[in-house]
Amino acid sequence: MAQGLRLVLFGPPGAGKGTQAQLLRDRLKITHISSGDLFRHHLGQGTPLGLRAKEYMNRGELVPDEVTIDIILDKVMSIPDDDGFILDGFPRNPNQAQELEKVLAAESRNLDKVVHIDISEPELARRIGSRYICRACQSPHTVGEGEDANAKRCDQCGGELYQREDDAPAALKKRIQVYNEETMPVLGFYRERGVLVEISGENTVDEVNKQIMAVLNACTHSEKT
Ligand code: AP5
Ligand code: MG
Repeated sequence: MAQGLRLVLFGPPGAGKGTQAQLLRDRLKITHISSGDLFRHHLGQGTPLGLRAKEYMNRGELVPDEVTIDIILDKVMSIPDDDGFILDGFPRNPNQAQELEKVLAAESRNLDKVVHIDISEPELARRIGSRYICRACQSPHTVGEGEDANAKRCDQCGGELYQREDDAPAALKKRIQVYNEETMPVLGFYRERGVLVEISGENTVDEVNKQIMAVLNACTHSEKT
């Protein structure tokens, strides 16, 4: 059987990584691994990992590598070779990128593409200001001006919508700074390996999705039915 697509969605807060990952997951039938969703799930359950991650997340800082790397890489390596995965929010610094490369190489695997979805700071601030997350399945939603968030439910599962604590202005400012200083260098790492593709996130969700699909169709993988 053909090997599954191995993809990283990369980009600043609010770029649309989660939104696009969900669309790709449903279309390509591959596993979506979001480090942020995983931490928020643990936080919601009140696990020790969730409580540890919370202090960093709410300040807009990265959760330390010794907490993050093993848990994400275990998930990645639990996926059978003929399935695929979409990583969303990982790797987020050069050390995480190197560790991911190491475990994949040990199984003679590599990444097919790293898609950098870029948007400007004013646009990301606008999107994050109107973003609500489903408490049950974590799907992101946009609540427009004049709309009542309490009256809306998740369009995926009907769950309750809420605003993330780290979407508050001070934490968002820190997340952007951390992205620029700690995460952006990962782009050079993947550029050198020839797997980086850059697309603009400042189009409609459908248009961004079309651009990503065009990139992926250039890979040898076909959609699963
Ligand atoms: P994480 O959850 O990964 O947050 P993030 O990277 O800041 O990204 P977001 O989830 O805010 O944005 P997104 O790109 O997914 O955009 P979305 O699709 O929601 O990480 C949170 C925290 O966890 C980190 O700060 C850190 O503390 C910790 N963490 C996570 N991973 C870690 C790691 N590897 N190492 C260490 N710590 C880690 O879209 C945003 C909004 O815009 C939505 O409302 C959506 O509906 C809307 N939208 C999307 N696309 C469009 C479009 N094309 N046009 C208009 N609106 C759109
Ligand atoms: Mg996200």
